[in-house]
Amino acid sequence: MTATDTRAAAAARAIFAERFGAEPIGTWSAPGRVNLIGEHTDYNDGFVLPFAIQHRTHVALAPRADGALRVRVASTFEDTTAELALAELAEVFPGRRDEVPEWARYPLGVAWALLAASGTDPSIVPGVDLAFASDVPVGAGLSSSAAIEGATAVALADAWGISLDRVALAKVGRRAENEAVGAPTGIMDQMAALLGRADAAIFLDCRSLDAQVIDLGFADAGLELVVIDTGVKHSHATGGYGERRAACERGAAALGVPALRDVTLDDMPRLAEIVDDVTFRRVRHVVTEDQRVLDTVRTIREQGPTAIGDLLVASHASMRDDFEISVPELDTAVEAALSAGAVGARMTGGGFGGAAIALVARDRVQAVTDATTAAFASAGFAAPTIFSVTPSAGAARD
Ligand code: GLA
Repeated sequence: MTATDTRAAAAARAIFAERFGAEPIGTWSAPGRVNLIGEHTDYNDGFVLPFAIQHRTHVALAPRADGALRVRVASTFEDTTAELALAELAEVFPGRRDEVPEWARYPLGVAWALLAASGTDPSIVPGVDLAFASDVPVGAGLSSSAAIEGATAVALADAWGISLDRVALAKVGRRAENEAVGAPTGIMDQMAALLGRADAAIFLDCRSLDAQVIDLGFADAGLELVVIDTGVKHSHATGGYGERRAACERGAAALGVPALRDVTLDDMPRLAEIVDDVTFRRVRHVVTEDQRVLDTVRTIREQGPTAIGDLLVASHASMRDDFEISVPELDTAVEAALSAGAVGARMTGGGFGGAAIALVARDRVQAVTDATTAAFASAGFAAPTIFSVTPSAGAARD
C-alpha cells in the first residue's frame, strides 16, 4: 500500500471503532480508475481500455457483535449510519431505494445484488458492519462509486463465504449502480476496479466481457499519466448520461442492430438518411471511438505508449463535438496540456465535468501543470487539482 492508501485503511478502521464501538476483523479495498480511451462505448457492447489507479476506497468489516441479521454501513464521508435487515434488502431494492440514504445505496445495493447473484438465502449469512474511508476523489470522473462497490463486493464475498469470480463481482457492482442507485452506467468501471493490474490497462470487450491485460510501459517510456481534476462535479444518475445512452439505443434501433458495436463507418451514410443530426453524431462518436480503442491497443503493442497521442486527442474532439459531453474546463485542460507539450490529452469518464488526463514526458510534467493552472486562472475557472496516477492492482483484502 502507498502512504495515502495506508492512511485510508487506518481511517476505515478508526471510523469503524468510533461508530460501532468494536474492532474490525480486517480491511479490504478497491481502486478508482482512469479510462485511457473508449468513452461511452461500454453500454454499446464496445471496447474500453481503463486502468485502476493507486487511489483506493477501503472498507473495514466485522460480523455484528450482537448477532443481528442486519447490514450496517458507516463512512468518513457522510455522518449518517444506515442499516437494513438482511431479509429486507430484496424488499427495498430496487423499488423502495429512496428510503436509503443516497451514499448507502452503493454498499447496501452491493449486499443485495451479491446475495441475489450467488443465490444465497439471506437467513444463512451473518449480519455485518462495514465502515468506509476513501482517497478516491468524489465526482472527479475517477469512479469513486465503483471503488466502493468493488471493495464492498470482495469484503462481503469473503465474510459470507461466497465464491464468485471477478467478472461476476463486477456485474454485482454494476447491478447495484444501475438498480440500487439508479445510474444507467455500463460495466467498465467495475471491471477496472476488480481486474486492475500494476503497470497495465484492461482491454475489455464489453459484449463478451473478455478482458486482456495490456502492459502500458509508461515508466520505461519516461511518461507520466497526469490527471487534471477540473473540480466541476457531475452525476450520472441524472440528465445527460442517460440521454446519451438513449440516443445510442435509438441509433442502434434505427439500424436494426442489437447495439452500436455492430455498426461500422460503412453504415453511416444510411444512418444519416434515417435519423436526426444529433443521433447521427452520437452514433458516429461511438463507432469511431471503438475503432480508436482497437487502434490504441495495437499502437501500444507495436510502437509503445508515446505513439498514442493523436488517438487521445481525436477521442477528445469526438466527445466535444459529436457526443457533446465536454465542458469548457475540460477543453481548457486538454488544450493547455497539449500546448505545454503533452503527448496526448482527453477528458476521461462519463463527462459533464470531472477530470481530463494527459500523457506527458516526465520532464514536461511541471510545465503541463503550470500551463494548465495558468490557463484556468486566466479563464476565471477555480484552480484544478493536478496529480499523476500509476496503473495499479484491483480489489483485494489489504
Ligand atoms: C461512467 C460509467 C461507465 C462509462 C463511462 C463513459 O464512468 O460508469 O460505465 O459509461 O462513464 O465511458
